[in-house]
Amino acid sequence: MSVGIYFATTTGKTEDIAERIHGMLSGTEVPKDLADVDDVIEFCSHESIICGVPTWNTGADSERSGTAWDSMLEEISELSLNEKKVAIFGLGDSSTYTENFCDAMEELHSHFLKAGATMVGYVDKSSYTFEESKSVIGDSFCGLPLDEDSESDMTDERILNWCTQLKSEIPGL
Ligand SMILES: Cc1cc2nc3c(=O)[nH]c(=O)nc-3n(C[C@H](O)[C@H](O)[C@H](O)COP(=O)(O)O)c2cc1C
Repeated sequence: MSVGIYFATTTGKTEDIAERIHGMLSGTEVPKDLADVDDVIEFCSHESIICGVPTWNTGADSERSGTAWDSMLEEISELSLNEKKVAIFGLGDSSTYTENFCDAMEELHSHFLKAGATMVGYVDKSSYTFEESKSVIGDSFCGLPLDEDSESDMTDERILNWCTQLKSEIPGL
């Protein structure tokens, strides 16, 4: 079972979290920067994928990440990822950008869904303080939101809980 980790970053925080998740999940491959990926077809070589995305384009309807993910979304939706599990984690700032907290996660989520992936790693929104997020579906975030700007003291516990959850949702972890 191969579980890939892919991230994009502008100031390095998403990369750091990708490394920490890799350290906690022994069944995962070394995290890869999306900027070094020529073609998203390589996602098909994994049984499951964990994706990390920051939000930079505040309030945007599309291309919310402001990273390499934005230009790859259409190609992702054209992949055939049936029977593959995909989990998303997002980096944002729930204090300064409280009306757009981790908005970019939902954009990845919808495009991976179009590709037929089974989305896992949803997180209850009740332990977060924010006004709005496009990444909330019902009572849950469509992935793991992390806030290294305003709530970095909560990151260890949030990652630990999420990795425990993924071990029950993704085969091979
Ligand atoms: C100009 C600017 C815009 C941002 N917009 C958002 C936003 O809309 N929503 C959010 O949750 N965080 C926003 N952030 C916070 C970043 O997403 C956060 O710092 C993140 O950890 C950056 O990750 P990276 O270092 O991997 O690029 C913004 C930060 C800056 C400086």
